[in-house]
Amino acid sequence: MQSDSSWTGHRFLQETLFRDSHQIEEEPKTRVCGVCEPNQKIILLPDPSEIPLAPVILWDALHDRKSIRVYSSEEIHKWELSILLHYTQGVREKENGSNFRTVPSAGALHPFETRIVVNRVNGLDPGIYRYLPLDHALVKEECHSGDHESVAKICRNPNLVASSAVSFIWTAVPERMIWKFGQRGWRYLFIEAGHICQNLYVVCAGLSLGVCAIGSYNDNDINCILGIDGESEFCIYMASVGRKKE
Ligand SMILES: Cc1cc2nc3c(=O)[nH]c(=O)nc-3n(C[C@H](O)[C@H](O)[C@H](O)COP(=O)(O)O)c2cc1C
Repeated sequence: MQSDSSWTGHRFLQETLFRDSHQIEEEPKTRVCGVCEPNQKIILLPDPSEIPLAPVILWDALHDRKSIRVYSSEEIHKWELSILLHYTQGVREKENGSNFRTVPSAGALHPFETRIVVNRVNGLDPGIYRYLPLDHALVKEECHSGDHESVAKICRNPNLVASSAVSFIWTAVPERMIWKFGQRGWRYLFIEAGHICQNLYVVCAGLSLGVCAIGSYNDNDINCILGIDGESEFCIYMASVGRKKE
């Protein structure tokens, strides 16, 4: 008999055990991510392959990675945002309808959407934007409740987002995984969100930016702000980024 506190976790593990029969090989219905409405203005980001980055020693970036929770009031550049988005969800290769990214994903399904809360990015108005990985571009999004400043208020530590230059909100679309992997796919969502945020930490270390993962937020409130139902799409993870204070 499980104690109440571990019951949910054990049930999750039991119901998501690997079964070969889960591997369905039909064409997906919802494979494409980051599609925008025809009336939305696409903001192209600087091409990451043309940004002259200073060389970074991987071992140093991995060693130096740490959570920074206090940011300066300086802006970050659009090229820095371009690099952050590219190395967290950017497409590096397209092949036979699959897109391979800078992070791994079971079945290369990439079940996420990335939204960013822009406070201080040079050349971008404050607001919430959605990333279109296939175009390496952004579209501005309407907030369905409150405004972009509301995002800070629904976090346990509001200052993390409020003082950030930009914050990342990753949402998961379970159907993009479940059609292929069945219930097992639920585990992959959470594993893969970790890959994304870890890349953000390492890239921020390379660019000398501060970053902090955020798991303490009001789920219903963030889903409401984004206008997603919390079931077919839900917020899975967040992170704040800004220049470090001297
Ligand atoms: C899943 C996850 C959720 C987290 N959520 C928060 C959070 O809501 N607020 C916060 O200040 N830090 C958060 N953190 C950052 C951790 O507190 C931090 O990683 C930990 O203190 C270790 O510090 P380090 O990252 O510098 O090694 C989170 C980290 C992870 C991995």
